[in-house]
Amino acid sequence: MNGSTETASRSAPEGVPRHVAIIMDGNGRWAESRGLPRAEGHRRGLDALRRTIQAARELGIGYLTVYSFSSENWRRPPAEVSALLMLLRRFIRADTADMHAKNVRIRFIGDRTGLAEDILSLFAESELLTEANTGLTLLIAFNYGSRDEIVRAAVQAARDVAEGRLPIEALDDAALSARLDTAGIPDPDLVIRTSGEMRLSNFLLWQAAYAEFVFSPVRWPEFERRDLEDAIDEYRRRDRRYGGLTVVGAQP
Ligand code: IPE
Ligand code: IPE
Ligand code: MG
Repeated sequence: MNGSTETASRSAPEGVPRHVAIIMDGNGRWAESRGLPRAEGHRRGLDALRRTIQAARELGIGYLTVYSFSSENWRRPPAEVSALLMLLRRFIRADTADMHAKNVRIRFIGDRTGLAEDILSLFAESELLTEANTGLTLLIAFNYGSRDEIVRAAVQAARDVAEGRLPIEALDDAALSARLDTAGIPDPDLVIRTSGEMRLSNFLLWQAAYAEFVFSPVRWPEFERRDLEDAIDEYRRRDRRYGGLTVVGAQP
C-alpha cells in the first residue's frame, strides 16, 4: 500500500522519526582492521558524529541521542579511557560554539558523580549556552548506563515519597520517567546500532520500550549520511502497533 494514501495514525510509519538514538559502535575494530591504534578509531568516530549531527539537522530530526561512553566502559585499559575522555573534551570545546550558532540544544545524560571537575564544567557551560535553542536537541550519553539511570530515578522517587513530595499512588510510569535523565525528552522512535552487534549494552532500556531497531553492519567511523537515510527508510517500512492492531483500509 502506498503510505501517502493511508490515513495518518500513530501506527502509520511515515516521515522522519522525531527522536533517533545511536549506539556508535565499532571504532576499535575499524582501527584494528587497518593496523591502527584503537584511539585512531575513536578519533575518526568523532568525525562521523559531526557528519551525523549535520545530517540529522538537515533531515529535520528533532532529537538525536548518541551513546558516547557507557558506565561499563571504565573497564577498558586506562590509556583507552584517557583517549576517550580527551576526545570528549575536544569535541565540547571545539564544537559547542558552532552547534550553538546552528541552534542546536546540547544536553548530557548519564551519572555525573565522580566525573572530573573540568568535564563537569564543560557539560554545564555547553548546556547553559544552548539551553534556549530550538533546533536539534543533541543528547550525549556519557558515563551512561540505563540500569544505573533507572536506579537513580527510583531512589529519587522513593525519597520524594518518604519526604512527602510524592503520594505513593502518584508513582506511575510518568512519575518515574520524569525522574530519568531524559525527563521531558520524547522516547526514541528509532535506535540504530552500528558495527553488526545486536544488543542494547545498557542503553535506554526504559525509553526504547516501543522503539524500532535498525542494526547496521557499518562500523561507526565509516557511518555516512546515506547510512542514516537507509536506517530511516527501514524505519518507515515498519508497522508500529504499540500492542494494538494495524488499521487496514478505512475504519467505520
Ligand atoms: C565504540 O567503539 C566507542 C565506545 C564504546 C566508547 P568501540 O570502542 O566499542 O569499538 P569496538 O566495538 O571495540 O570495535
Ligand atoms: C556500547 O558499546 C557503548 C558505546 C557505544 C558507547 P560497547 O562496545 O561498550 O558494548 P559491548 O561491550 O560490545 O556490549
Ligand atoms: Mg564496541
